[in-house]
Amino acid sequence: MRNLKINGERLWASLMQLAEIGATPKGGVCRLAASDLDGRARRLFIRWCEEAGCTVTVDRIGNIFARRAGRRGGLPPVMAGSHLDTQPTGGRFDGAYGVMAGLEVVRTLNDLGYETEAPIEIVAWTNEEGSRFSPAMVGSGAFAGVFDLAYGLGRPDNVTGVTLGAELERIGFAGAAPVGGRSVTAYFEAHIEQGPILEAAGLPVGIVTGAQGQRWYEVTVTGQEAHAGPTPMPRRRDALVGAARMIDTVNRIGHAHAPYACATVGFVQVSPNSRNTIPGCVFFTVDFRHPDDAVLTRMDRDLREGCAAAAATQKLEVAVEEFWYFPPTPFDPQLVDRVREAAAVQGYAHQDIISGAGHDAVYLARVAPSAMIFVPCVGGISHNEIEDAKPEDLAAGCNVLLNALLETADTP
Ligand code: GLV
Ligand code: MN
Ligand code: MN
Repeated sequence: MRNLKINGERLWASLMQLAEIGATPKGGVCRLAASDLDGRARRLFIRWCEEAGCTVTVDRIGNIFARRAGRRGGLPPVMAGSHLDTQPTGGRFDGAYGVMAGLEVVRTLNDLGYETEAPIEIVAWTNEEGSRFSPAMVGSGAFAGVFDLAYGLGRPDNVTGVTLGAELERIGFAGAAPVGGRSVTAYFEAHIEQGPILEAAGLPVGIVTGAQGQRWYEVTVTGQEAHAGPTPMPRRRDALVGAARMIDTVNRIGHAHAPYACATVGFVQVSPNSRNTIPGCVFFTVDFRHPDDAVLTRMDRDLREGCAAAAATQKLEVAVEEFWYFPPTPFDPQLVDRVREAAAVQGYAHQDIISGAGHDAVYLARVAPSAMIFVPCVGGISHNEIEDAKPEDLAAGCNVLLNALLETADTP
């Protein structure tokens, strides 16, 4: 395996320039999927890729592929990428790092005049975050055949209902290329860890062996709207009181399956949301995660029982719909070994780690050997404007990406 180095200063400068698009007062980024700002970030990325000599195509769900030719053009590409969309209170690195790391690999190969055997493609997947349009990982899921195109394009904005497809049209990123249906030699994704493990261990690199499973739900609680003054407490059917008890149950389920379970309610809508009307309807989401599928199944049972019990005590109806699921996903053992070897060759101390977050690599793993490289983030904080990472760690992860990717592209 080779022992080449990327240009860490150039990588950092590109990340900082990209982070200006959607910059927030607290130093983060708000660049929601298929928004005007997402369009601007996409255009900057494409300009940089074209300046680096790549040929850019956009598929019908807006995934962007920037191809650097290989010596054997007929070989399927080795891909590296991630996403450019962010959470509403997102940081500068979640997603952006994986895309900019792919670009930095290509720029480094250009500097060296290095021609790989297989072509390389830098990828920016559409709507990884699943915040504005749910679920997450829609572009990579469509590419991998998990979602059909109509489903992906039809995803509604969680608040306004405008579809992902309409917004991609509007920002000029409903491309012409077919979605997926082509071979990929391998997929690599570099990402900040988004948790505290690597920082606590003092390690610059994590070798990601897989990602934990997730179950997402949509819960609708129905009671009866009534006047806040004349309606005695025993007569009320207050949907928000019921939802509050259910939300507490979600949190308890997470604690009950410690230490690995995660359980979150992050989106709540109250209707009619008027201070002197008893709420008649509440909609909320649930995000469950665990590395063991059997535990996720137990959490599912606990959720349904807990919601039914809370509804009964308040004389409410409740509908608990599973909205999205993917099982715990191991990455390709050979490709993971290659990442580990690249870290060793570079002299970086490292450990194996399981991803707590969902990533486009989870869906790519269904159609191609896939692997991820993690680097620490400051305080383990992500999905927060103060998300931060050290330039030297970002460079380390990108060096690992470069050499693991070269080994793959040269011995496809
Ligand atoms: C993606 O950001 C996730 O929620 O894991
Ligand atoms: Mn991400
Ligand atoms: Mn994210």
